Amino acid sequence: MNGAISTPLEHHRLGLKLQPIIIGQLYLTGKLKAPVYLWQEGLFQEIFHTGEVPNKDKIKGLISNQVREVFMHIEDIKSVQEQLESALIKVTRSLSVGDPRENGSRALKLMALNLDSLYQNPHDDELLMKQFQSMQNMGKFLMENKKLQSNFFSDLGKENFHFTILQPMMSSILLLGFLQSTHMFHEREIETLFLTSYLKDIGIGIIPEDKYDVKGLTIDDQKLFAHHAEFSHEILDGRVPLTKNQLSIIKHHHFLNDRLKRILSKDTRKTEEMMAFGIESTLVAVADMLVAMTSTRPYRQGLSVYQSLELVRKMIAEEYPQEFRALVVYLKQFFRS
Ligand SMILES: [Fe+2]
Repeated sequence: MNGAISTPLEHHRLGLKLQPIIIGQLYLTGKLKAPVYLWQEGLFQEIFHTGEVPNKDKIKGLISNQVREVFMHIEDIKSVQEQLESALIKVTRSLSVGDPRENGSRALKLMALNLDSLYQNPHDDELLMKQFQSMQNMGKFLMENKKLQSNFFSDLGKENFHFTILQPMMSSILLLGFLQSTHMFHEREIETLFLTSYLKDIGIGIIPEDKYDVKGLTIDDQKLFAHHAEFSHEILDGRVPLTKNQLSIIKHHHFLNDRLKRILSKDTRKTEEMMAFGIESTLVAVADMLVAMTSTRPYRQGLSVYQSLELVRKMIAEEYPQEFRALVVYLKQFFRS
């Protein structure tokens, strides 16, 4: 590793000028105006120097060593974000030109990275609209490329990105594919539910990053987590063309969590909260839960699809038996292909 910053004063000064970025964003960096650091053993370690263009093999090596974020000077971050936005617009506008698998995977990766920028700057209108438009194009593209949906889902799952940026896209792909398979919804409805599902966690930026990966949150932290759905609603209301119904789905997208908690703690008391939310909210929430339950977190192993479906059955099968059966059939095929 090159040049560690050793004195506490140097460290403090440096910390003020740096911001974390997802390591994948380094692929979009040109010539660096300032060094890039890794936070290791309590010190900033310089990994790329001023004037250097970060080497792709070195970035790949860091990723395979489980490095997820690096620290970059604010002036370089601005240019990475500009690069990211223009690459995203370019690729999502020309998704159907060339190889759809390659285009789709690239676009999804760029969108996930852009979503991270949005979490950090949720009030940036331009950034939000660019993401919104890219999502609209992506929704149409995914619907036209049904056969590739499960490939895109598994490609994304292999990225070494944080779950907060992977889960919205993965659950939205799953949701879109399932809605399409049921033939119960018009194309337009599927598109809007896809957007709703994707944007539902945009308020997650209120949660400090060190809280994501820990087991056993305090009551206050749990409240903060629960509040992200309302914050997403606040951020989006009046800024993007979503209907009242879509905004309400976003605001309540964790409404099944209490039911899941009761199931896990074997509490058999019945509540009537469910039907008030309707099938659209239920499916958005279920897709989100399925992705969450089947993925591994630093503090727990992921469940199998079968185990997760068993929990989903207990949550929704009484109210929505037909939809639940359709979901089982759909997922069997989705995870086999
Ligand atoms: Fe959420």
